[in-house]
Amino acid sequence: MLPKNAVPRLQTVQQHILDRQRTQHPDATGEFSWLLSGITLATKIIADHVRRAGLIDVLGTAGHTNVQGEQVEKLDIIANETIAACLGYRGNVGIMVSEEDDEPRIIKDLDDQARYIVLFDPLDGSSNIDVNVSIGTIFSILQRREDVAAGRVMDHILQPGYQQVAAGYVVYSSSTVMAYTTGDGVHMFTLDPAIGAFRLSREGVTMPESGRIYSMNEAYRRKFPDGIKRYLDWVKSEESGGYTARYIGSLVADFHRTLLKGGVFCYPPTVSAPRGKLRLLYEANPLAFIAEQAGGTATDGRERILDKIPAALHQRTPLVIGSKSEVAKIAEFWQP
Ligand code: AHG
Ligand code: MN
Ligand code: MN
Repeated sequence: MLPKNAVPRLQTVQQHILDRQRTQHPDATGEFSWLLSGITLATKIIADHVRRAGLIDVLGTAGHTNVQGEQVEKLDIIANETIAACLGYRGNVGIMVSEEDDEPRIIKDLDDQARYIVLFDPLDGSSNIDVNVSIGTIFSILQRREDVAAGRVMDHILQPGYQQVAAGYVVYSSSTVMAYTTGDGVHMFTLDPAIGAFRLSREGVTMPESGRIYSMNEAYRRKFPDGIKRYLDWVKSEESGGYTARYIGSLVADFHRTLLKGGVFCYPPTVSAPRGKLRLLYEANPLAFIAEQAGGTATDGRERILDKIPAALHQRTPLVIGSKSEVAKIAEFWQP
């Protein structure tokens, strides 16, 4: 029972960011929390659309493909435009990069004020939209480079993941959950529909060091590298001690489970996608940052995801992400 006059702790994501800034970065101007509040606003609007899917006209395809040749769903566009609208007028975002846009959106010349670059997958797991399976939004935040002229847009965007100043995701599921990091641990919030605010639900989340869950689209087995095939034989063998498989088909939801329960998610190169399917800048990098901040790890089979120097906006990468010992186990079988 709470002591007399005690007030139960209720912390919104905004309060959390401001509190941590106050204690750890007393010189912070607050503009970063202003930027993140643009993201939380956008994801609340998206969550509202997702919740009413079937009642409002958001299901189905938009009738065209994106720059990556993938079918675009109506909700992909709604999510993309919602994020652009919520961030575009914050004053401190110079460039936005989205999975759904061929080219970066230049909002303002990068200067001391407009110094952030936001990269995002507005809606991850598009194939699950129409069937009420978990989907999400993933975002990564970079700062402009001090050593490069403002007009050299691609140089500012193509920074390695270790330069991220923040990253996060939102899963639209049985509840709407947001996780973010600014390099100071991973914190999780649940959207309280009664008040329309994300409330702190877990602070300083840590990923279990191991976990007997593997997450891979095994239907592609014949297209996988031999080492991955050997790993798949091993997980099913008695020698492994027994694993279970979980694959949702929404990276963000598969990652969320991996973060909380441990295990490994792996999307290796395949014969049809020799560089992997997932995108480095707005899928792998932000989740790798979160994984590492929670004590997990992420590689492309060869090197740490966060060390990869990007060469293109929509660059793809193989991804092995999760509990340290499970990622290491895959590396025992597969060394590309
Ligand atoms: P998106 O919907 O943003 O294009 O991403 C889909 C991705 C990812 O969420 C998921 O892990 C993967 O595609 C599933 O791909 P397969 O269907 O090839 O397994
Ligand atoms: Mn995606
Ligand atoms: Mn997407």
